[in-house]
Amino acid sequence: MGPKDIALLIYLHFLPHEGLVKKLCNYIETDGYRFYCEMSGRSALYKLALALREIHPGSVALVPDYVCNVVYKALELAGFTLRFYSLDSFFEPRPEELKRLLSDQNGGILLTASLYGSSAFIDQFKEEGWQKIIMQNNIHIVLDLCQDINLIADLPTNLDSNLSVILSFNDKSFPGVMGGGVLTKVCLPLTTQRMRINQLISLYGMLYNKIKGSIRQRILKLFPSSIKKDKHLHAVELATKHFEYSYCKSFPYKIELLRMAKIQAIMAVIGFSKLDDINRKKLHGLMSMKGVLKTKYYQTSPYVVIMADDDSISKRKRKLPYAIHNTPSQTLRHGLIIVHNKGFDDFI
Ligand SMILES: Cc1ncc(COP(=O)(O)O)c(C=O)c1O
Repeated sequence: MGPKDIALLIYLHFLPHEGLVKKLCNYIETDGYRFYCEMSGRSALYKLALALREIHPGSVALVPDYVCNVVYKALELAGFTLRFYSLDSFFEPRPEELKRLLSDQNGGILLTASLYGSSAFIDQFKEEGWQKIIMQNNIHIVLDLCQDINLIADLPTNLDSNLSVILSFNDKSFPGVMGGGVLTKVCLPLTTQRMRINQLISLYGMLYNKIKGSIRQRILKLFPSSIKKDKHLHAVELATKHFEYSYCKSFPYKIELLRMAKIQAIMAVIGFSKLDDINRKKLHGLMSMKGVLKTKYYQTSPYVVIMADDDSISKRKRKLPYAIHNTPSQTLRHGLIIVHNKGFDDFI
């Protein structure tokens, strides 16, 4: 975050909350789908799932067997029973397996997610054959696009009200302090419960750390000799944690329904306005990396999979593979090398 961003951030604080939400919706809403702001992607999924349990038949959620565990937590909290399908080496569902699982499912959810640039099955959903299966079996498709907001330009809107999309503003497509929402034709109640003052302070604390990190990064660029120390710290941190797992225990990671804070909306509005520039920087970042797994949307993904560890990624920040649901010490994807390619200052 540079001085210009900080000036814009201060200026946007003078706008009313509703005005900021409206600006945000203008970036996202399309084809009669309405955007509901929430405090995080996980809370957005929880909110949608709660509503679907009320108005949609079926309580089974078909989910990928490898995804961020908060997805499983949010669905279970809302009362869904999980049924897993596998992903191939490009993090795509296997069509035959999905067809088989869907053939004996009436109602319920099929959640697909974009992971490290994978497609979330968007192209297949646009095909007549898949549309027929979904409509006939009354399946509600939940597209989890939390990892890459850019995919909203490609939505399978032919699924009409059988489609909802989950978005996250949490430092993936642009800098953020959590925040997210649901894009849907399902009528959802507005989340009105405001955050408490200590919760707001904790969000501003996250923002403060970002600004501090940004300044530090600039200093490190000017005095590269201090970088070694920084890299060492990161290596120690990675060595103590094997897989990514969220216990969702405390704010802002807990799954709860709180109105999106003004600062979250502001960060997202700034983020959308800079999306093209950020995407250009991602392309630039990719040019210096070898062996990137070419998933469908790898060019805009904040994380990419590398097929063989080498010098070209030695300075890149790593992301840990996701742990298995309820088993934080294990993963289905041992040895996966995932690196950040965010296109903006990235230090949290
Ligand atoms: C695929 C996927 N879905 C959902 C989420 C949850 O988003 P949030 O962190 O905004 O709650 C994440 C977060 O990392 C994610 O990667």
